[in-house]
Amino acid sequence: MLPFVPSLCWSFIQSAIMLHRRRVLVGIGGGIAAYKVCTVVSTLVKQGAEVRVILTEAAQQFITPLTLATLSRHAAYTESDFWQPSHGRPLHIELGEWAEVLLIAPLTANLLAKLTYGLADDLLTNTVLASICPVLLAPAMNTDMWQQQAVQRNWQLVQTDPRYHSLDPGNGILACDRVGPGRLAEPPEILAHLTSLLHTSGKRDLGGKRILISAGGTREYLDPVRFIGNPATGKMGVALAQAALHRGAVVTLVHGPMEPSLLELLSGVKQVPIVSALEMRQAMLDALPTADWILMAAAVADVSPAEYSPEKLPKQSLPAQLPLVPAPDIVAELSSLKRPDQWLIGFAAQTGDIVTPAWEKLQRKHLDAIVANPIDHPTSGFGSDTNQAVFLDRFGRKAVIEPCSKLAMAHQLLDQISAISQE
Ligand code: C5P
Repeated sequence: MLPFVPSLCWSFIQSAIMLHRRRVLVGIGGGIAAYKVCTVVSTLVKQGAEVRVILTEAAQQFITPLTLATLSRHAAYTESDFWQPSHGRPLHIELGEWAEVLLIAPLTANLLAKLTYGLADDLLTNTVLASICPVLLAPAMNTDMWQQQAVQRNWQLVQTDPRYHSLDPGNGILACDRVGPGRLAEPPEILAHLTSLLHTSGKRDLGGKRILISAGGTREYLDPVRFIGNPATGKMGVALAQAALHRGAVVTLVHGPMEPSLLELLSGVKQVPIVSALEMRQAMLDALPTADWILMAAAVADVSPAEYSPEKLPKQSLPAQLPLVPAPDIVAELSSLKRPDQWLIGFAAQTGDIVTPAWEKLQRKHLDAIVANPIDHPTSGFGSDTNQAVFLDRFGRKAVIEPCSKLAMAHQLLDQISAISQE
């Protein structure tokens, strides 16, 4: 039996387990978005990671070494440390060997150009060349700077080196009052990507795989304001999409209505918003031919109101009993249409015994595997940041996934699917 802990607290413990004592080196470039990197450093430390920070000369115009030293609980390095030996060895060599993952944020146009051509003229760029760990690049700059041919050329070129992982800048109002691309990715997106890189050591083992994921709940409207729905938030599907993307897959996410902040975590994922089960069915059928793996994580309604009124029904006109019709069983239909080389994975949210009904569903719907997860547990289910599951495959094997963050569970599920799809 797991002890009862409120879900937020549990989520914190679990992410902390993923990051506990992991060694993260953060290089900060000279841009106003440097202030956001303070949040990244602070969160990493709170979750148990060991963090070291290098500030470029220009970064120190925006934030101070003292800020980062305080947040990282360790002296922050600057150019003046470059020539000071650490334990008798050059600092860039020590730091390069120490790091398990390196984040460079904000990546300025200047730093990008240096990395693209392998220049090393300061502590940060020398440390990059003295390390072999995966590097996550998060650029941020003025829109005109970002859109320069030279910058775009370097951005494409640097990504041809497999050790560099990228987080495209977002769109929005920039500190220079421009509206356009150039915003640093938000801290939660940076943190999720770093966590994935630590889990996989930067492997792109799903490179070239096309993964279709459904997420969130559907809504079956009775009139423009009332619907039959469920509390699914889409967090598990979003975690699957992030994990797959970070491992190199081409990801399509068909999703029901969900918090915009969750969807902002998914730059690089093709997003197809839908509302009803019928719309989800169509979107999944459209995307099916080009998918290698189909992960049906959505909580699709089982029934819809038999009739829809385009006008809001007055309270007095609401029927005492609502006539219902079955919603399309999307996963069953996908199963009947899929090619033998495609892998279809269902999800079964259950109360009580989670394994028996999931196994029965896997057989009835001819799925390749099913993820059975309890929804009557404080550490899993709708809206929680954590989950636990039993993964059952069509060969009769069973793998237990202990309570963990949804991102950690997503990686474990991808590991399982990878293993069965190689048989
Ligand atoms: O709701 P149930 O537990 O039967 O869902 C099992 C699987 O079937 C899930 O993967 C879910 O996304 C899928 N499903 C579906 N269409 C429905 C209901 C469920 O594709 N109408």
